[in-house]
Amino acid sequence: MRNFHKILFYSLLIGLGGCDGGGSSESSSAPASTNSTTSQLTAYSWQLPPGFPTPKVPEDNPITAAKVDLGHFLFYDRRLSINETIACANCHKQNRAFSDGVKTAVGALGGIHPRNAMSLTNVSYNSAFNWANPLLKTLQQQHLVPMFNEFPVELGWSDHEQQILDRLRTDVIYQEKFAQAFPNETEPFSVGSVSKAIAAFVTTLVSGNSAYDKQIYQNQVNGMSDSAKRGMELFNSERLECFHCHGGFNFTQSTNHTKTEFIELEFHNNALYNIGGSGAYPEDGRGLWELTAQQADMGRFRAPTLRNIELTAPYMHDGSIDTLEEVLDHYARGGRNIETGDYAGDGSRSPYKSDLLVGFVLTPEEKQDVINFLKSLTDWEFVCDTRFSDPFGNIPRHASCP
Ligand code: HEC
Ligand code: HEC
Repeated sequence: MRNFHKILFYSLLIGLGGCDGGGSSESSSAPASTNSTTSQLTAYSWQLPPGFPTPKVPEDNPITAAKVDLGHFLFYDRRLSINETIACANCHKQNRAFSDGVKTAVGALGGIHPRNAMSLTNVSYNSAFNWANPLLKTLQQQHLVPMFNEFPVELGWSDHEQQILDRLRTDVIYQEKFAQAFPNETEPFSVGSVSKAIAAFVTTLVSGNSAYDKQIYQNQVNGMSDSAKRGMELFNSERLECFHCHGGFNFTQSTNHTKTEFIELEFHNNALYNIGGSGAYPEDGRGLWELTAQQADMGRFRAPTLRNIELTAPYMHDGSIDTLEEVLDHYARGGRNIETGDYAGDGSRSPYKSDLLVGFVLTPEEKQDVINFLKSLTDWEFVCDTRFSDPFGNIPRHASCP
């Protein structure tokens, strides 16, 4: 992430600004209102689950079926990495709700990323992207990070843009797909088009058909088990406080969509580290502090959605918690105590931890109820939806998919 500012500068240069995710100025592409090729500009049919707001999309990247289709292929295409070994989908696998099951991600050239690959469940509803980056406000900007990151190299586009674009340009299938997705561009093969098409696809990764949704939004009285219902009460109680940071339809309060009136974007220290009692987090994992260098921002990260959480272990920004049981132990204690080693220190005594993390005691039954509630957020239709699966057949489907 050390070259993040370079990436952001580059994104502004090629016109991928879009700071509020909804009111950005037009880029080099012609405005959607010039109706030259209206057939290709037909709006995408969302098929949103009941109770879900329509995602907000940047004005310079209207969603069309052709763009989503192109983005779907690019997301899974290994030719997008410098040595043709990995695609976005290798770090964001549908069978793990678009995360990767690894502690921290590994780039195309073997470099270890300091962060755990995030789930892309309902990602377009987030008010900013990545674990702790208030500056990344649109998906098309976010995608430049894995494309151009040098620390570590993720896909390896830096200084190799033309080489990678040429691979796509010479493919007859892509000649047709890029032309359909970007009918007004004289040169549809560009960095901007790649990130915009992938953003269009990623925006469609909407998950809202879990047992919880069936119970709450689709009026099915027995959508959830009784245990999960009891767990929901606990999750939403002042005793556990989970809902304060993981609230709303997407189980994170930092959301932005077409019905948002006040865009919330919050970062919290949830007491994972307190190295030597100073409140410090490990280098490369200090959250908002890495951008602001303010002590109060030490260890502050965005609370991610908890939808499909059963499938996205290991947990936290650095993948340092393996199971949901251990996540609950962590919160019950009011912070993690690391007894030995470089990171020794008691997170529950961190000067920077959120005031909401006071700890609690659960009976074994109550703990199981909360876990069953978290598992009721798994959406198998999403995990098995063929609209999102690998068109090249490299990434296996989840064993439970029909
Ligand atoms: C090497 C593994 C890797 C590759 C390849 C990769 N990602 Fe990621 N992705 C990550 C990691 C790690 C994060 C968290 C980054 C951070 O917080 O600094 C992330 C975060 C994201 C996020 C933010 C999610 C959120 O909730 O804020 C999106 C969106 C995303 N990736 C999409 C993509 C797309 C699209 C591609 C292909 C262009 C891609 N990723 C390629 C590992 C990867
Ligand atoms: C003060 C706000 C806050 C409260 C209260 C809170 N969380 Fe979190 N939660 C966070 C933040 C921030 C993260 C990410 C922290 C990090 O990675 O460093 C997180 C991460 C998680 C994760 C891992 C997510 C992932 O994708 O890896 C789970 C699971 C989780 N919380 C569940 C809960 C439960 C259950 C409760 C209630 C017992 C709870 N949280 C209470 C802020 C909070």
